[in-house]
Amino acid sequence: MSPYGAGIRHLFPALQRTRRGLPPVYLDNACMTLRPQAVIQAIHDHYSRHPACGGERSRHWFADEVMEGVQASRERLRRFLNARSEAEVIFTRNTTEALNLVARVLDLPRGSVILTTAFEHNSNFLPWKLIERSERARTRRCHVCHAPQGKEVRVEVLPCGEDNRFDLAAFEARLADERVRVVALPAAANLNGYRLPLGEAIAAARRVRGDSLIVVVDAAQAVPYRRFDVQGADDADFLAFSVHKMGGPALGVLYARREHLVSLGQFLVGGSTVVDKVYHDRDWVEDAPPRKFEAGLQDYAGIAASRSAVDFLDERIDGIYDHLLPLNRVLTEAVLELEEAGVARLIGPREPEARGSIVSLLAPRDWIDRVLAPALDAQNVMCRTGEFCVTSWFRWRGIDPRERAGVRFSFYVYNTLEEAERVAGILRTVTARTPATA
Ligand SMILES: Cc1ncc(COP(=O)(O)O)c(C=O)c1O
Repeated sequence: MSPYGAGIRHLFPALQRTRRGLPPVYLDNACMTLRPQAVIQAIHDHYSRHPACGGERSRHWFADEVMEGVQASRERLRRFLNARSEAEVIFTRNTTEALNLVARVLDLPRGSVILTTAFEHNSNFLPWKLIERSERARTRRCHVCHAPQGKEVRVEVLPCGEDNRFDLAAFEARLADERVRVVALPAAANLNGYRLPLGEAIAAARRVRGDSLIVVVDAAQAVPYRRFDVQGADDADFLAFSVHKMGGPALGVLYARREHLVSLGQFLVGGSTVVDKVYHDRDWVEDAPPRKFEAGLQDYAGIAASRSAVDFLDERIDGIYDHLLPLNRVLTEAVLELEEAGVARLIGPREPEARGSIVSLLAPRDWIDRVLAPALDAQNVMCRTGEFCVTSWFRWRGIDPRERAGVRFSFYVYNTLEEAERVAGILRTVTARTPATA
């Protein structure tokens, strides 16, 4: 039995459902994947056995088991990423929180530039813009001070070409500028699945600037099907991803390189983040990492079940991309026919090989709402429409959200060639009935 597609659909309870006699065709995996029974069972086990206090506050039978679960999951994720120590694995709510944490705790020198790309998810763009804005506000507020207060931190967006690829040469050229202190890159774009040459980008950053440049990787769209080695080619300072995009519970993970763990300030504070405090002092003694970054009680069921999700993925990860490619090819071909007919446009590189798990198209909003979406829904096809949280790319391309929108189909391990063909068939049918407009 194949470890992908039809061979594993029985492991996912949600795929056993039917509506109007048809099974679900779930193609919204870039947002959230479905969960295998093993992960659901792990959550169930947690609540059935020891749904108790964690964070090492209580010392009793159940609390000890909770923390054993946390420890085991942290170690499992450490191994999965090939991190040096468990302290480098920090649990967060999601990728968004992980990236906000990094942006907030870095103490950047005055005049720093944060270099990022034109197709960032809002979660790897707005946290940096917020720092830029708050530093600017500090400077403005303090116009009567003798010395400027704000640090004048600036976000710079590296433009991309017509087909939305990362320009490695332009990136490398910007690295020579010492004001560039942070590069914040996605490993794969959620706009269209485009996979950046991340290894080359990190190697260039290290070659030009060594450890003086902070490399932040938004790996949300890549961890679900690509192995990362943070001691090897993926030698980032920070790497963030969401376990709910890889078959696990709603949970985020931040990998933070060991060197930063002690020097970085705290993001959220409260329970589990201090070892000593005093009423009248301004300072307190921070707890050791990773706890100093994990304020308050956590989703211990989710953390425990993340281990099952990693186990499930680890067994299959090396073949996922090869499984997805033929599905991507079938759908890309259909979208290119839509393009030819003047109905819609493919977003991003033409070759499916460059886009991995995603096929996105751009089309008139009215056509999507009135023609395409109902046709997909009639056959239980679930996908994403709108701007996929890449608002700035859509505005930069001059796309008026009232007139045009995106449709994103994203595949995962349990999708089949037959499903891709079914969606391609729907696209062809609706195209045949649609006059050219795109
Ligand atoms: C590339 C990328 N970064 C960040 C995020 C944010 O993830 P989350 O909503 O899990 O925080 C997403 C979500 O789709 C994403 O695709």
